[in-house]
Amino acid sequence: MAEQWQDVLDHAVAVAQKAGKVVREALQSDRKVSTKSSSIDLVTQTDQKVEQLIIQSVKETFPAHRFIGEESVAAGEPCDLTDEPTWIIDPIDGTTNFVHTFPFVAVSIGFLVNKQVEVGVVYSCLEDKMFVARRGKGAFCNGKQLRVSDQKDIHCSIVATEFGSNRDGGAVEKIFSSLRKVVCLPVHGVRGAGSAAINLCLVASGCVEAYYEIGVHVWDVAAGALMVTEAGGVLMDVEGGALDMMSRRILAANNRHIAEQIVGQIQAFTPQRDDAPPQQHRRFYPK
Ligand code: IPD
Repeated sequence: MAEQWQDVLDHAVAVAQKAGKVVREALQSDRKVSTKSSSIDLVTQTDQKVEQLIIQSVKETFPAHRFIGEESVAAGEPCDLTDEPTWIIDPIDGTTNFVHTFPFVAVSIGFLVNKQVEVGVVYSCLEDKMFVARRGKGAFCNGKQLRVSDQKDIHCSIVATEFGSNRDGGAVEKIFSSLRKVVCLPVHGVRGAGSAAINLCLVASGCVEAYYEIGVHVWDVAAGALMVTEAGGVLMDVEGGALDMMSRRILAANNRHIAEQIVGQIQAFTPQRDDAPPQQHRRFYPK
């Protein structure tokens, strides 16, 4: 009998490769940019075209499966995660990078059943790196198995984080205050690829020890989260509890010890959840 969800993984890889080609071609031409929740929350026609390409292709092969896609939600579709098999898609994770030709842009595809990530595919399309993971079967990049860093000392670590697209004064204060504390632990360095999915793959690859962010969406992290756990890492909320993928807060690390030391530095805040009712969806960061 074929291994469970191998057909889903194969399909996700094939469609991510097609999507990556569209993204690379679009980089050679003018990119028409629009905005979503704010003047710095960018979207392009390529994001929309790639999401449609992925959804159409999956529907033909898996007609009973459900979808949560970044651009479909932006267009008013609900962001409801049920126990049914569900594909969670970010057609271009790193849209700002894409607009500016900063070379870290990923197609991110997660597949969940019973709200658990079974398959994750992150295609870093300008680096031509295909990251894949299947629950219980490991994580791989271009066929090579991934393993998180074995560093146990936070002072010898690199931590990745992002500023995201929230410029609310209170939130920005907390983001800077947390960052100052992390930098001054001190750590070896702080980095950010401009793509949550790629940051998670960097943790899985052992290049950075940890990544945290408040303000991500479920489509940014669903696939990359599995990459981290399958490479031996841990996931948690930025305040140390269990990760809730709809909460828009994530901390990923190579081990629990490093994760807990970062938790101690973070001044948390609570963004509007991804699964909030649609009328509240674009009202970010209530007090
Ligand atoms: C964004 C990127 C970015 C992160 C933001 C995300 P998008 O996703 O992952 O690194 O800081 O929080 O929303 O908009 O490029 O798909």
